[in-house]
Amino acid sequence: MQKFIITGGKSLRGELALQGSKNSSLPIMAAALLCCGECTLHCCPKLTDVYAASRILNCVGCRCTFSDNMAVIDSQVVDRTQISEELMREMRSSIIFMGAMLGRTGECAVSVPGGCELGPRPIDMHLAALKKMGVDITESGGSIVCKAVCGRAKGAKISLAFPSVGATENVILCAVTADGETVINNAAREPEICDLCGFLRSCGADIKGDGESRIVIKGKKQLHGCEYTIMPDRIAAATYLSMVAAAHGELILTNACVLETEPFLSVLEQTGCSIYTSENKIYLRSGPRLRAVRERIRTMPHPGFPTDAQAVLMAALAVADGTSIFEENIFDCRYRHTEALIKMGADIQVLGKVAVVKGVERLHGANVQATDLRGGAAMIIAALCADGTSEISRICHIDRGYEKIEEAVRLLGGDMRRV
Ligand code: UD1
Repeated sequence: MQKFIITGGKSLRGELALQGSKNSSLPIMAAALLCCGECTLHCCPKLTDVYAASRILNCVGCRCTFSDNMAVIDSQVVDRTQISEELMREMRSSIIFMGAMLGRTGECAVSVPGGCELGPRPIDMHLAALKKMGVDITESGGSIVCKAVCGRAKGAKISLAFPSVGATENVILCAVTADGETVINNAAREPEICDLCGFLRSCGADIKGDGESRIVIKGKKQLHGCEYTIMPDRIAAATYLSMVAAAHGELILTNACVLETEPFLSVLEQTGCSIYTSENKIYLRSGPRLRAVRERIRTMPHPGFPTDAQAVLMAALAVADGTSIFEENIFDCRYRHTEALIKMGADIQVLGKVAVVKGVERLHGANVQATDLRGGAAMIIAALCADGTSEISRICHIDRGYEKIEEAVRLLGGDMRRV
């Protein structure tokens, strides 16, 4: 079991190039299944979740090879329709392979992703939408068997009760090769949805309206391979910006997606940091002490404040002047990192979906366990601005989403090692 050992108190300074987006890479890798050819993905981050996606691709017959940050996926042969429970459980996003497999073969057998570290993960909206597209679905004992009644899914009008990212992705993946037109109302508007659609368009798909609430897809009989560059990771951007803000330093982020990071930047700016942006760079300088954020920080679907940035900003605000209030509206169990932050000296009270963070003068090092991906990143941020040394275990959660995070921290002058 690996651990991170972090000695805090150093100010962080330097330039970092952002990794490609995890939340784009996974649906795009699933989408490569639809292409009956070879897809080359640039800026594919080296993450355990990406390798889990490649194991799923291999298991259904595709070939997936990596060379540095380039992934090549050959999906000419897809000769299996079942994905084992073991592979499905390796990562939460595995459920998006359901739509992709249906789009490619008209059938698939998968298993429910189950509960996870953020609480229950219902997929009722995914299943209801696919049923509307002419897919017969049988669920028993955790397994889900799907079969397009006419051999190929058919276009449908779908109105999602909530703009679910995963459900929107599953419907898009199934619809691009379905028979006829699919309209998704109340679709998720996250930038990663646009990235997925950008990739699919490069493969010949006909999609309009991504980035808006109404997406219209005209099904094509076949898609082809392509070469595509994955967008930068806006949540990794939020993480490194929160880290340097808390550690009183200076950061230039290159390969950044400025517009897509705006909902986070507009809140971070209220802490008193100086933030400047240019086309694909974000510059941040923080003073000796952050200010609390005065307005309530409500996590919302994009373009609201991202739920994935809640924990990392909380770690920074734990050492700000004054009280900040968070309201988590996407997930029921997304405050599990607070226990570790409190162990490090933070003053945080959780009341249902609200967390009240009273900034303290100093944090102190402690031995803590990563509870989930972003919660683990929050612990790294707290440890970097704490007095003394911290030990963070269960870092497999962190490796799911951050490429060589300890090297990035060391590049900025932080004291962090993996043992
Ligand atoms: C969510 C986030 C996404 C983030 C990802 C990883 C939102 C809207 N989505 O995407 O930004 O990158 O987690 O942390 O912020 N739900 C149902 N039934 C369904 C599907 C979802 O009730 O069939 C509920 C979920 O329980 C949850 C909410 O809808 O409360 C959002 O879910 P969804 O957007 O689907 O989650 P992810 O795709 O994992």
